[in-house]
Amino acid sequence: MAGAPEDPPLDGTRVLLGVTGGIAAYKAALLARLLVQAGARVDVVLTRGGAHFVGAATFEGITGRAVRGEVWEDIASGTHVALGRAADVAVVYPATAHTLAKLAHGLADDLLSTTLLAATCPVVLAPAMHTEMWQHPATRANAVVLAERGVVLVGPDEGELMGGDAGPGRVVEPEMAFEAVTTALAARGPAGGRDLAGRRVLITAGGTREPLDPVRYLGNRSSGRMGFALAAVAAERGAEVELIAAPTELATPPGVTRTDVVTARDMHTAVMARRRAVDVIVKAAAVADFRPEQAAPGKLKKDRGAPAVTLVANPDILAELGTARGADPRPVLVGFAAETDAVEEHARAKLAAKGADLLVVNDVSATDAGFEVEDNRVLLLDRRGGRAEVALASKRTVAERILDAVVVWLDAPEQG
Ligand code: PMT
Repeated sequence: MAGAPEDPPLDGTRVLLGVTGGIAAYKAALLARLLVQAGARVDVVLTRGGAHFVGAATFEGITGRAVRGEVWEDIASGTHVALGRAADVAVVYPATAHTLAKLAHGLADDLLSTTLLAATCPVVLAPAMHTEMWQHPATRANAVVLAERGVVLVGPDEGELMGGDAGPGRVVEPEMAFEAVTTALAARGPAGGRDLAGRRVLITAGGTREPLDPVRYLGNRSSGRMGFALAAVAAERGAEVELIAAPTELATPPGVTRTDVVTARDMHTAVMARRRAVDVIVKAAAVADFRPEQAAPGKLKKDRGAPAVTLVANPDILAELGTARGADPRPVLVGFAAETDAVEEHARAKLAAKGADLLVVNDVSATDAGFEVEDNRVLLLDRRGGRAEVALASKRTVAERILDAVVVWLDAPEQG
């Protein structure tokens, strides 16, 4: 069967195995054995519920490593995040309904949940619960959220459950979970998915706000989603990521350093200060081209009539980066183009005018892609004449394709 321990070997792979409180916890010992036989270094985190069903000694005997269970042990080593950060892949077997709910909502009240919140590696969950729990709308919704976030859900199977019940909810066999782990690792590519390790990537996101008075501003529809997806994926692929974010409600992705800015001029200052320190700059932010020449010091009063607003040009950050870089291939410059008509023609002109290496073009007149929504559809252009279309997909998937192009460019900039 595919997924036999020697195919493919997991030599040196760091696997985090979470074991939660279900009767199937005893089968996690078999999964641990398959992983160890394949050469993996397996760190087991056993929740209190899991420990009711199977003992730590079993896993320590199989893995040859200490089993962890408590967040309050060894505080100085930062155990609550260290295991997650170090893992190449994490698998939770079995994963209870409660575990799915906690992960979907980002709750972190024990060692396994803090660990998984800090993990940037692929995560595989093997749900196991009674049929009613699996089919409950809350669990269904949690499973959808997790899947959309890129978590791999393997199973559950249909079959015999605890207490004489039968139906969907039975944990998949350990061999199947093993296969899901190897597939998740393989999907990360030849560099183990860390093809941006050692690279410093600066990403801008969101829409700048240009004040008219203390309460009003000129803004745009950017939600920051595209830029945040890029930051999340770049960090997962091993990059050291700095995110310069215009106002947004979005949470900072794990492992990303964030600087908040408001106006185009703030963003200009922040980007220019870092341009020599990074290998790549991705300008996903929607930057206001113009700002009111003067922001009124007090709130503009309606009874004084419509104000005459004079607009002045903001610095064009991307164009300035292109000029400042000159013939130097670093940093690689990735611009975006938000177009509504003659999309490709305008984008090609923008690519040349701004001195970028790559341009990610989106037609923002579409309603299912571009501003605000969860998905995007883009055209990737590069200054060597390369052209590739990325069909409608989640912004995360689009971010993966953009970063694939960045990796190619980083590897061979001198050909440009
Ligand atoms: O944030 P979301 O809701 O997820 O939406 C994503 C997005 C539509 C905002 C994103 O995909 C996108 O297209 N971002 C760029 C928007 C934009 O400002 O496009 P532009 O064609 O006006 O600018 C071209 C490039 O120059 C951009 O990389 C922009 O960051 C940069 N620019 C523009 C003006 C300026 N003064 N300085 C700049 O650096």
